[in-house]
Amino acid sequence: MSRLLRTTLSLFVSGLILFTVAGCGSDSSSPPPDDLAAEEPTFDEQYRPQFHYTPRQNWMNDPNGMVYNDGVFHFFHQYNPEGNTWGHMSWNHATTEDLVHWEHQGVAIPEEGNEMIFSGSAVVDENNTAGFGTNDGQAPMVAIYTSHYTIAEDSTDQAQSLAYSTDGGETWTKYEGNPVLEHPDPNFRDPNVFWYAPGEKWVMTIALPTQHKVQFYESTNLKDWSLMSEFGPAGGTDGIWECPALFQVPVEGSDQEQWVLQVDLNPGSVAGGSGGQYFLGSFDGTTFTPREGGLETAPHWVDYGPDFYAVIPWNNVPEEDGRALWMAWMNNWEYAQDIPTSPWRSAQTIPRSVHVRTIDGTRRLVQRPVEELQQLRENAVQLEGRTIESGMTSLAEDGISGQTLEIVAEFEPGDAETVGVAVREGKNERTIVGYDAATDSVFVDRTTSGAVDFHDAFASRDAAPLATPDGRVKLHIFVDRSSVEVFANDGARVLTHRIFPRPESDGVSLVAEGGPAQLVRLEAWSLRSIWPSR
Ligand code: FRU
Repeated sequence: MSRLLRTTLSLFVSGLILFTVAGCGSDSSSPPPDDLAAEEPTFDEQYRPQFHYTPRQNWMNDPNGMVYNDGVFHFFHQYNPEGNTWGHMSWNHATTEDLVHWEHQGVAIPEEGNEMIFSGSAVVDENNTAGFGTNDGQAPMVAIYTSHYTIAEDSTDQAQSLAYSTDGGETWTKYEGNPVLEHPDPNFRDPNVFWYAPGEKWVMTIALPTQHKVQFYESTNLKDWSLMSEFGPAGGTDGIWECPALFQVPVEGSDQEQWVLQVDLNPGSVAGGSGGQYFLGSFDGTTFTPREGGLETAPHWVDYGPDFYAVIPWNNVPEEDGRALWMAWMNNWEYAQDIPTSPWRSAQTIPRSVHVRTIDGTRRLVQRPVEELQQLRENAVQLEGRTIESGMTSLAEDGISGQTLEIVAEFEPGDAETVGVAVREGKNERTIVGYDAATDSVFVDRTTSGAVDFHDAFASRDAAPLATPDGRVKLHIFVDRSSVEVFANDGARVLTHRIFPRPESDGVSLVAEGGPAQLVRLEAWSLRSIWPSR
């Protein structure tokens, strides 16, 4: 069937098609309404994250093409080269050698004509299976992305395409035979490709967003693909499915690995709006089978905060490293285009390692911050064995305050109803990270975190159930100029939030309500900026 005909047919479901670029917001053909790109970035703007990746300027969404090659972690992202809201989607490129310091590399794969470059992945084609190699001994890098075609005013189509680099990622060429994979459903996107060594083939995981399905394809040359199997609907289906990834993660305390299928949901996620869910299971080279029998299971959430979306793992991480590593878009489609930052908009989370742990007799996905971030620590402070009286106890006299902090605190809640830490505290402003004994949950309350009025859905208190078998709660908190990431009980639960406090709101307090609690120990560090200009 011709693309035009398929697209015309697809208009019958145009309510659903709204999707997507409803997800994504704006009309790509008109200029963004609030183009702030003209401002010169200083990397010292009020809300500019100091240890999270942000583009120099303009709009960013999903991480794309994350792949390790020859000592360098490559990272691309959805980018609007022309403005500070969604549109003109292209892949912008950045690199890091230590997962902490980033170098901006510029636009790698641009929008052209009626084709925007939507999300996807990248691989290192060691065996030159696609034939893009030039015999200079350097393995080609190949990006597999979604071509989003505008066909008429109200009609779009999506198919999968390739671009390649034979100079280690510096320059990229779109493959002349694009697209390489089409589908009758005009919503067919976000290919995530990896080398499946036992079958000596490439495997692609890809979303049919409005059908709540992922499909698995195989190929020996990245150009010819055949369908192997499908998964879904399952778990959370209140929104469309996007950005899936199938990969293996280490099982803590063993040398085993576990297959994980990560699928994003927008809207309908645990904290409202967009978010990620996961399924643990097995993969035999053809089919993914979830551990938990039927497909009717309640969703398992990757992150209980509102600002964790479109996560994908780094491909090709060296075996001797042994980690499964990923990073997510730290924003939410519900209010993404309204967050008050310029001349850029959106940030990525800190890179995290992903593991499987048995909690309460069940295997669960857990996340930990990468250890590499410890190089940013300075001004260490340690506190031990304190009773926290009901109310707020400022830690200013202990030398703990700042806009960029790492805090590790262990509590025994005792008689307290809630216990925790307030960060980015100032006049009428604070973000509270705590444990709620009545509901056995860890929460982040950003209702008074600073600027919250830019969107009705932003002010929120979000919680995650937290088992405390030894009666203790451990909170590992990363605070930046406009975010708070919380890893509770060694990453058993994670909550990611954007916040927009005033610069002078840099206080930190211990918090207890309903009775005293015990602080077992607390360590805090200021974190240095990663941007050279600072
Ligand atoms: C997810 C998403 C993807 C799509 C991209 C477009 O945030 O909607 O499904 O490829 O963003 O920018």
